[in-house]
Amino acid sequence: MSANDVIPPSPSESEYATSQDGTVEDIFAREDPFSLFEDWLQAARGSEPNDPNAVALATADPDGLPDVRMVLLKGFDREGFVFYTNLESAKGRQLQDNPKAAMCFHWKSLRRQVRLRGAITPVSEAEADAYFQSRARDSRIGAWASKQSRPLESRFALEKEVAKYAAKFHIGSVPRPDFWSGFRLIPERIEFWRDRRFRLHDRMVFSREAATSPWSVMRLYP
Ligand SMILES: Cc1cc2nc3c(=O)[nH]c(=O)nc-3n(C[C@H](O)[C@H](O)[C@H](O)COP(=O)(O)O)c2cc1C
Repeated sequence: MSANDVIPPSPSESEYATSQDGTVEDIFAREDPFSLFEDWLQAARGSEPNDPNAVALATADPDGLPDVRMVLLKGFDREGFVFYTNLESAKGRQLQDNPKAAMCFHWKSLRRQVRLRGAITPVSEAEADAYFQSRARDSRIGAWASKQSRPLESRFALEKEVAKYAAKFHIGSVPRPDFWSGFRLIPERIEFWRDRRFRLHDRMVFSREAATSPWSVMRLYP
């Protein structure tokens, strides 16, 4: 059986980049990658079945071996793209050793991709506290209970930890653990990819030397 038997050719010979009024937006006229990203994320909110903010986050370990997993984008602005995690997890350790990362969004419903690369900085304590307190109480307790990425003996052992912290915090507030916080990816490169007919896709890259430098824009062959 070849891959083509299980993965039929994409029906993308139709025009997926077309907007509702039947026109194709000229993304190459856009000068601001953040506003273009906001527009695409907004479109994904209306079309994805769940988690339009899910993004693959790539890191590398001290040997340079890449690692990748999904996280949820919890904020973005001109400063960067923010996600939260356990700091003692594999990704947490990798990012503390090598504070650089890449992200890749893929919205199947839109047939669009956005890639980002850049340096990583921790979010402020105040920012992490504010986000942590916005989470459901059970998720806050879960953050205390999970030694993310370390071996777990059984599901029961995890449930016991959850019960332990639920009892500990009882009806009081659940503070943010000091091993749980967020990171911000400060992009030095953002690429927008959009499906076009006959795989002649659009690729547009914004890049800059430093976070304070102006963006240069380039079109790439698909
Ligand atoms: C859609 C989706 C969203 C996720 N969001 C997060 C997240 O925001 N933060 C997080 O730590 N893990 C998240 N996870 C779990 C991670 O993919 C991963 O399993 C976990 O963080 C451990 O990764 P690590 O061992 O590389 O640190 C998510 C998983 C999926 C499938």
